[in-house]
Amino acid sequence: MESASEYHAWREALEWQVAFGADEALSEAPVNRFELAEKPKPKPAPVPAVAPANVHVEALKIDAVAEAQKAADAAQDLAQLRRALAAFEHCELKRGARNLVFADGTEGARLMVIGEAPGREEDRAGLPFVGPAGQLLDKMLGAIALRREADVYLSTVLPWRPPHNREPSSEEIAMMRPFVARHVALAKPDMLVLMGNIACDVGLGERGVTRLRGRWTQAFGLPALPMFEPERLLREPLRKREAWADLLELKARLT
Ligand code: URA
Repeated sequence: MESASEYHAWREALEWQVAFGADEALSEAPVNRFELAEKPKPKPAPVPAVAPANVHVEALKIDAVAEAQKAADAAQDLAQLRRALAAFEHCELKRGARNLVFADGTEGARLMVIGEAPGREEDRAGLPFVGPAGQLLDKMLGAIALRREADVYLSTVLPWRPPHNREPSSEEIAMMRPFVARHVALAKPDMLVLMGNIACDVGLGERGVTRLRGRWTQAFGLPALPMFEPERLLREPLRKREAWADLLELKARLT
């Protein structure tokens, strides 16, 4: 303290604070409590591992596929298989779809066409291949003298339309595989056409229809011909030339 006047100035300041209730000294430096309140709270410590959650998802996946297998195996004819699919509750796609799309065409036909998934028109009608892609398919089949109502049985891997036609997940495809296999076994065609990558995935265990198309292979124990799906031909009309070559292959095998 340098002078009496300084002493009195400090004393006055102290008394002023005491009058406002500041009756205890906590630290030398002032603390702005408002600023502290705005500082973000410390983050909780990171969860060390995600494995338990993944394990849980794996368990669900395995269950859905096992349930599908059980339901499909129990079906003794196509009508029972349709009912088993309609009662299957493990696929999310079912909740967003208007109708189950099971099959169309001729039961007992020598040729079974397996497509990918219903679009908007198929979802509305509850039948596969009825929209623009289906109309193109009818023309393609007509070009080799095949008619839906007499010579071909049609189905799709996914019986429910994916929302906004999104790509189905690998889990959704995996849980439909037992139904597709059973569908083929019960429909008893002589040969299959696998239209598009999802059908190739389910039938052959691999994708790459651009590479696979036009060459006979085996799926579900039957001769199978991978081809471009008609949606793709609508998007890429130049591919129709390859599709025509594949149709001639198909016709040769059928006659
Ligand atoms: N494409 C398919 O794969 N399925 C349909 O039902 C229609 C178009």
